[in-house]
Parts: sequence; structure tokens; C-alpha cells
Amino acid sequence: MLPNTLLSRLLGIYTAQFGEPACVVKAPGRINFLGEHTDYNLGYVMPAAIDKAIYIAIGSRADNRIELLSADFNDTYSGRIDELTHSEKSWPNYLLGVVQQLQQHQLYPSGFNAVILSDLPVGAGLSSSAALECAGLLALDQLCNFHLPTLTMVTMAQAAENSFIGLQCGIMDPFASMFGKNNELIKLNCSNLDYTYLPFHFPDVEMVLLDTGVKHSLAGSEYNLRREECLAGLEKIQQKFPLVPFLSAATMEQVNLSIPADTIIYRRCAYVVQENSRLLAAAENLKNQDIISFGQKMYATHAGLRDLYAVSCPEADFLVKEAQLSNQVMGARMMGGGFGGCTLNLISAVEVASFIESITQQYQHQFNRNLVSYRVKLSAGASVITE
Ligand code: GLA
Repeated sequence: MLPNTLLSRLLGIYTAQFGEPACVVKAPGRINFLGEHTDYNLGYVMPAAIDKAIYIAIGSRADNRIELLSADFNDTYSGRIDELTHSEKSWPNYLLGVVQQLQQHQLYPSGFNAVILSDLPVGAGLSSSAALECAGLLALDQLCNFHLPTLTMVTMAQAAENSFIGLQCGIMDPFASMFGKNNELIKLNCSNLDYTYLPFHFPDVEMVLLDTGVKHSLAGSEYNLRREECLAGLEKIQQKFPLVPFLSAATMEQVNLSIPADTIIYRRCAYVVQENSRLLAAAENLKNQDIISFGQKMYATHAGLRDLYAVSCPEADFLVKEAQLSNQVMGARMMGGGFGGCTLNLISAVEVASFIESITQQYQHQFNRNLVSYRVKLSAGASVITE
């Protein structure tokens, strides 16, 4: 749906339900080019916001109630803002989590109504949860005139996910949703939050997401387990090299000297250390306009996520293998936490239609599943649409 159509639908639903909204905000989803599972190891990531977003229309209420309507799920939530509890439904918790964060910062929103509508696929590894948290924070910040700095909203969104949802995610997703820029990637150092924008100006290259359609129920617990494995590896490294502050700062030599090579912990640590240096080299490729070497690094990242970090799935492996064999795709890899979601593909613009047609047929044949694809552009981060 075009954003304008989506906006008028959102306003129509809000007005019919609650009257005039105070404002409308949007927060985009993200893709990530390189630096997967490096954010919580305090390494580098290279994400970008995309032109698919979650929109929220919000208005205040005179009582202490929170009334939510998700147009995407055709569902509602009703509760008290002064007695926050987890909802049995999943989607309201992302907004309740940010309300709790605000309250923990001694910021007390009034009761409010909100309607949520999006063109961002949920559960496809495009960070719809961070987008919802960021949109919720921006909407409440605007409604209540809190004037929160953007970076504070980023860390609050992450904290909401960590403490209210229970996923020990890193900072990449809310950072990208808030700080995205048109046609630029973000190179973010997660150890100190220094960041630079890297232009992605390749008019002949399109970014295409192929949605495996797989949503693995173990994704959350496996994600938290990977974090623990990385911490265990870091402890081993620090026993020999006490000055290594976090896993991404270790060298392969230090990993080799600290952890037996036939262990799971070794494979996890080797992946993280290699991925971090791969990203730094890829940033140089971008500066030199060398999209071929950049794309090769995406394939290498996929192999690392599949073989060492063990977070891929057969469907993503198939899509990446076929992309690599096709000669039409410069780089491809699974993206996000893993165990499903989308692959990101860099495809020469003239080949996009034929590649999508052929891979869709192959996927159907292999897995008996429909392959949904999205052509995306790099877009600006979260913003207020009307006041
Ligand atoms: C999820 C998390 C991020 C990041 C990625 C893996 O998207 O939310 O913080 O760890 O997985 O790179």
C-alpha cells in the first residue's frame, strides 16, 4: 500500500474510533548489510532503515486508560496506565514496554488512544518489534512534550525489548529505525555508539528481500543462548588476555589461543571476530564503490551464520545458494536474528524481475511454499508526520 493510502486509512480508523488524533508518527523497519550478531558483542553493525514502516496515530484521554487498536491484527487492547501488566496478546506488549520505560525514567504519560497500521511485514526479520517500540516512544514523546533525545529513545526501546519482552537484543534495530537516512547505510560502533553514514549510491543495484516465510518458535531462546555462548567465550579469552574488553575486540589469534577449536564456543567466537573485521573491510569496499567485493562479503557472512553461528535455516540457505549460483546477484545472505525471516539480495537492476520470477518457481518447487519478495529502498528514520 502506498504510504498516502495507508495514512488516510489510519486517520479514518482513528477518527471513527476516537475522534481527532493529536499526531501521527512513523518508524521504519531495517535491513542489515553486514555485522550480524555483533551488536551485543559490542562490535560494528551496518544497518539501514527501509521504506516500510509502522504508523501510529495517537491522542490523549482524560482517564488513565490505554486503548489500542491494531489495524494490522484487527485486534484491540484495553488497560490502565497506572497498573501496567503484560498482555496475553503479544503485540500490545511492545507499547506497554515503552510506557514502562518512560515511567521508570519518571516520565508519566496520560492515558492515551492509539491506532497502529503498517506496511512492514511482521516476523520477517525486518525488525517490526523495534519499529513498533520506536513509533510508540516517538508518539508518546510528541503527545506529552517530553523532548527526549533520539538516542535516549533508542536505548529505551532496547530496554523495553530486554526487560518487558524478554529478548536480550542489542541496540542495532532501534538505532537503525531512529537514525536511518535516505540512500545511506549506518556504520555503528556498538561499543561507544559512534556512527557514520556511508552513501549507498549504486543506481544499477536493487535491494530485494526474499521472505522465507519461516518463523521459528525457538528464535527467541536460541538468540539468548547465543549471547550466553559469546559471554562464555569472552570469559575464556579474558583468562588469557585480560585486556580484551568485549568479544568483538578480540583477534582470531587470541580466540585460537584461548578456546579449543572443536567446541561450539570456539565456532561462535570465531564467527563474531571474523564478522567484525569483514564489516570493516566491507566499509572500505563501499568507499571505493566496489560493490562486487562488498557482495562477496555478504555471501561470506551467510556462510559464517550457517556453519559457525548456526542460526540459519534450510530455506534461507537454499535462497542464498541459488542467488550465488545465478550470477545475477552480487551478494545475498540471511538477515537478523536468524531461523527464518528474509534474505537480503543485491541484484543488478535489469535482472531483478527475471531473478525473482525464477527463484520464486524454484522455491515453490523445493519447499512447496510461496516466496514473497520486497524491493526496498534505504529511507529516513522515525519521524512525526502531523502535529
Ligand atoms: C536481532 C536483534 C539485534 C541483532 C540481530 C542480529 O535483530 O534484535 O539486536 O542482534 O538480531 O544481528
